[in-house]
Amino acid sequence: MSEKAQIGVTGLAVMGRNLARNFARHGHTVAVHNRSYNRTKELVEEFGHEGTFLPSESAEDFVASLERPRRVIIMVKAGGPTDAVIDEFAPLLEEGDMLIDAGNAHYLDTRRREAALRERGLHFVGTGVSGGEEGALHGPSIMPGGSVESYQALGPLLEDISAKVDGEPCCVHVGPDGAGHFVKMVHNGIEYADMQLIAEAYDLLRQVGGHSPSEIADVFRGWNEGRLGSYLIEITAEVLKQTDAATGKPFVDIVVDQAEQKGTGRWTVQAALDLGVPVSGIAESVFARALSGGADVRKAAADAGLPGPSATAGAHEGDLQADVEQALFASKIVAYAQGFQQIQAASKEYGWSIDPGAMAKIWRAGCIIRAKFLDFIKQAYDKSPELPTLLVDQYFLEAVSGAQDAWRRVVVTAARHGIPAPGFASALAYYDGLRAERLPAALIQGQRDYFGAHTYQRVDKKGAFHTRWAAEGTPEVEA
Ligand code: 6PG
Repeated sequence: MSEKAQIGVTGLAVMGRNLARNFARHGHTVAVHNRSYNRTKELVEEFGHEGTFLPSESAEDFVASLERPRRVIIMVKAGGPTDAVIDEFAPLLEEGDMLIDAGNAHYLDTRRREAALRERGLHFVGTGVSGGEEGALHGPSIMPGGSVESYQALGPLLEDISAKVDGEPCCVHVGPDGAGHFVKMVHNGIEYADMQLIAEAYDLLRQVGGHSPSEIADVFRGWNEGRLGSYLIEITAEVLKQTDAATGKPFVDIVVDQAEQKGTGRWTVQAALDLGVPVSGIAESVFARALSGGADVRKAAADAGLPGPSATAGAHEGDLQADVEQALFASKIVAYAQGFQQIQAASKEYGWSIDPGAMAKIWRAGCIIRAKFLDFIKQAYDKSPELPTLLVDQYFLEAVSGAQDAWRRVVVTAARHGIPAPGFASALAYYDGLRAERLPAALIQGQRDYFGAHTYQRVDKKGAFHTRWAAEGTPEVEA
């Protein structure tokens, strides 16, 4: 074979196919391979005119059609299938070649695979890719991990096909081994939180404000022009505008109200628990999906007729629409602050040296959580990369303090009306927890010392102390 491909894609379901087409449309020769050759053939038949594809039926021919160092993108289902593909391809590769996993893999799997392949002289690049099918084709946000050396050979190609903001690629080397997949996981966790908060805003405007889905779509369209401007707000307006062709009802009313999940939000929360980072906004959104999906429990509650508020709730004390916008913005800031804190904690734990400002930068286009305000996050971390929380950055501090009266009114209204708003309420509780001068954690320390002699520290002198709770006289001893 004379012509060699700069990059190869194995796994040609829609994401893999679209990534391959994106490379080809950018003038790169792309080797393509799939477990069943039919898909490969279809791709070339349908889209061959878009660029140069080198189709192969066997893994051996596919590998042989690539220039060195070989760059092989794996786009298969995360988990077992990824390991199977690695086992198939690794023996065919040579020192310095790269296997690139562009699926939503767990970062600990990526760390394991990277270490194993490094021993064999191969690069394993776990890379986050966000933007769904459309993004994969027209320009996703790309979050590659792996070695610096692998990025030198791979980065320019990925940057080429990524989304751009003012000509700058939404792709950067995130850090070694699992860093890319970790950051993509947190991206998805934030995505969950964003979606939950938007859903709560909709629910309040509908149930308290009495607006129709189509009217609320217009509200979201308006918000999209302001500081909340983002892809998720934009598509929410589209979804709310939609009418079901069969019944003429609003589309949102004919969909079963049970949110599903593939698991990346749950992973984010599990990882946050291990790191000790309170990502309460993301956790609430994962639990809210779980609650919605708990059909049996919900039915039991409905059958038992769990009562709502007994007193009449009364109208919202304020301009509901304006207040909900404030609550949404403030809660969103909290969710992002928590997610970024998690990225920083993991970076420290694993020695990844992730630049949080660069993450905000590559999320400004291409990905699902792309939003205007990511510019401010980038600026905040560019100014101080070690920022302990976004909430102390001047822009966010002012935004949240300006929103807080409205935010509190919204949480009160939700509670009074018996409308679940766990995202808004927990974000507010987090904010109040952070700013509290004294927390009741002191009492918890006392309880721990009482039943378990777990000791406590004093505010007025150093050391660990234990109180002999049952003793007479001076019961405190230094532990
Ligand atoms: C993206 C998305 C993408 C996908 C997730 C969410 O960044 O392009 O996050 O990865 O839509 O899998 O899926 P669930 O809501 O099913 O977890």
